Amino acid sequence: MRPEPLIEAAGLAAGYGGAPAISGVEFALAAGQTLALLGPNGGGKTTLLRAVLGELRPVAGTLCVGAACGTVPQTERSRLDYPVSALEVAMMGTLSQLPWWRRPGRAEREAAARALDRVGLRSLADETFGRLSGGQRQRVLIARALVQAAGVLLLDEPFSGLDRPSAEGLEALIVELAGEGRGVVIATHDLEQARSCDLVLCINGRQVACGRPEQVLADVSVLEATYGGAIVEIPGSEGRAILPPHHHHH
Ligand SMILES: Nc1ncnc2c1ncn2[C@@H]1O[C@H](COP(=O)(O)OP(=O)(O)O)[C@@H](O)[C@H]1O
Ligand SMILES: [Mg+2]
Repeated sequence: MRPEPLIEAAGLAAGYGGAPAISGVEFALAAGQTLALLGPNGGGKTTLLRAVLGELRPVAGTLCVGAACGTVPQTERSRLDYPVSALEVAMMGTLSQLPWWRRPGRAEREAAARALDRVGLRSLADETFGRLSGGQRQRVLIARALVQAAGVLLLDEPFSGLDRPSAEGLEALIVELAGEGRGVVIATHDLEQARSCDLVLCINGRQVACGRPEQVLADVSVLEATYGGAIVEIPGSEGRAILPPHHHHH
């Protein structure tokens, strides 16, 4: 018997009022699976995550999400000048579960502290969020999602700007969290990282392909349609690399 998918999209289109920013999106994510979202800047990765979160309504097709979603937004979108501690950020995850008349109290503080512990940050609970490193901030936001008891984690380019050890630590944490039965969607530019996910979905306005990484990433025409030809063969290395958009010469 196959488990009910946590997320199921069929013929999904969504956008911001004009022509849909994404269309033809079709995938199913089961508990314990990781899905890499690959696409160029402006390809629609964040738009798809926002649709899953319920922030954008489908303009075509269907989207079923069978679990609470916790989100780790793209870093440049979070405010770093706001004087709030790591613990307080994690505690924000409790707000959706509290009745409107209750403020977070001791139980919520304890839940937030446990979640920080879980992501390896207990000792930094009182540190100001904006003073943490990029990798530590990603972990605090994951803790916030854990406090929400999210069955689905949506991570928007969580590795951007992280050094290698932080990225590897974060990757290991993601594998652990999926191993506990969560579904995890990761928007990324990193082909290597996509290779280690259970599923890869390529999107460039419309969905180009979705499937097992060994199938999707082996198909040069898929990568070309996804990145619009910005694929380079690295001499002396196996496989291909993607030129990040800011490396384009105009
Ligand atoms: N708030 C918005 N209002 C209107 N258009 C938007 C908005 N956010 C993104 N878009 C457009 O939707 C498309 C997909 O963007 P986005 O989902 O942010 O791509 P990605 O995350 O892959 O870089 C782009 O053409 C972008 O300009
Ligand atoms: Mg984005």
